[in-house]
Amino acid sequence: MAPCNDGEGKMAEGKNEYPSNELMVARRDAACPTGLPSKSGIYADRAQGAELWDIEGKRYIDFIAGIGVLNVGHRHPKVQEAIKAQLDKVVHTCFGVAQYESYVELAERLNALVPASEPMKTMFMNTGSEATEHVCKFARRITGRPGLISFEGAFHGRTLLATALTGKAVPYKTGFGPLPSDVYHAPYPNEYKGMTAQMALNCLHAIFETSIRPEDVAGIIIEPVQGEGGFIPAPNEFLQGLRDICTRHGIMFIADEVQTGFARTGSMFAIEKSGIEPDFLVCAKSIAGGLPLSAVIGKASLFDKIEAGGMGSTYGGNPVACAAALAVLDVIEEEGLIQRAEEIGAKIEARWTELQNGVAKGVFGDVRRVGAMAAVECVTDGNAHQPNPEAAAAIQAKARELGLIFLTAGKKGQVIRTHVPLVISDALLDEGLDVFSDAVKAVLKA
Ligand SMILES: Cc1ncc(COP(=O)(O)O)c(C=O)c1O
Repeated sequence: MAPCNDGEGKMAEGKNEYPSNELMVARRDAACPTGLPSKSGIYADRAQGAELWDIEGKRYIDFIAGIGVLNVGHRHPKVQEAIKAQLDKVVHTCFGVAQYESYVELAERLNALVPASEPMKTMFMNTGSEATEHVCKFARRITGRPGLISFEGAFHGRTLLATALTGKAVPYKTGFGPLPSDVYHAPYPNEYKGMTAQMALNCLHAIFETSIRPEDVAGIIIEPVQGEGGFIPAPNEFLQGLRDICTRHGIMFIADEVQTGFARTGSMFAIEKSGIEPDFLVCAKSIAGGLPLSAVIGKASLFDKIEAGGMGSTYGGNPVACAAALAVLDVIEEEGLIQRAEEIGAKIEARWTELQNGVAKGVFGDVRRVGAMAAVECVTDGNAHQPNPEAAAAIQAKARELGLIFLTAGKKGQVIRTHVPLVISDALLDEGLDVFSDAVKAVLKA
């Protein structure tokens, strides 16, 4: 669609509401704070599946999916149908005021999906941050202990305790203190950088000796695959070691599956691959096909130690979001998206490995994936310890120009990551990967 700017930035009648991306950037800059991330300058008009069109009519293949929110793609017909049907019935009551079946049904289904050999219970909130914040509050209440341990490079959200848990200072923590106390950060294993599972476990033991006794720790919260940290998987051996430590010392093992959940990693939840059972699991993002919903799922025997009134949320588990989430679970099952995540990941890996051995030699340091959670770490001269965020940014910018969007991650922004909607067709995935290769060639051959 051609821009329909009347020259004064006013909306032309009967035309697209927003005249151009450029004009919207100016309006955004005047109306919204600088600190709010919205650098892309792509103003969305419509989206479907794994494609997005901006208000100027430019089409993008979408490997971001709302930052891992749309595992079932934009506007999946089944999810749309469920949302519309719910809108005609009831939009909001607050579960504390008048209850509804969909909340309970969704809790039942999630309880059955989390790896557990004892009964589980679920409560709903709205965002990932809210869920990570609350689960840590719950762990303190249940154990009567103050300490929390999270990991370097972790991202758990932007509310105050979630910010404290997050393991990256700039920009998340800078100037926002004082942050809640009794939060400690342990090194996260990273085989590519030489931090083995055993070394990371040793570091945790050192923290117990130097900073906080295990008897004073309420919970350890971990992303089984770090998301914002750069798609770094924790080896099973590490997660198992962590589980042993938690069991031995009565510490809550909390899996943050906000980014990894709902088939992304080739299993419903990434923690399944390790064979361990968490005490609590938090999820959000892809749970409800784009509507705001998060969940804390935990062992009933622990959860029920918190008395009535000790938790709640005005909007949490809103009927429309619950209806969408039930449809999302159906779609994952009916369309075999767990299996599909593996196929998508394998295709991406194959294409990126070709580049790594060819034009991107020395720049694509590590191609890694868990299911469809695929990333490539850009480095200089093949050196794992020399991040190359400039290459990642240049490839990202070129791809965007060519009609493909994806995000970067990692401590320095050196990691290219993909959240390909799992409903993508092979043809569209190939097209996206072709554009990716073209962008890499254009940047690295230049
Ligand atoms: C692992 C993880 N935890 C928590 C959060 C915070 O979620 P939200 O942005 O919904 O508050 C995120 C967001 O990216 C995340 O990736």
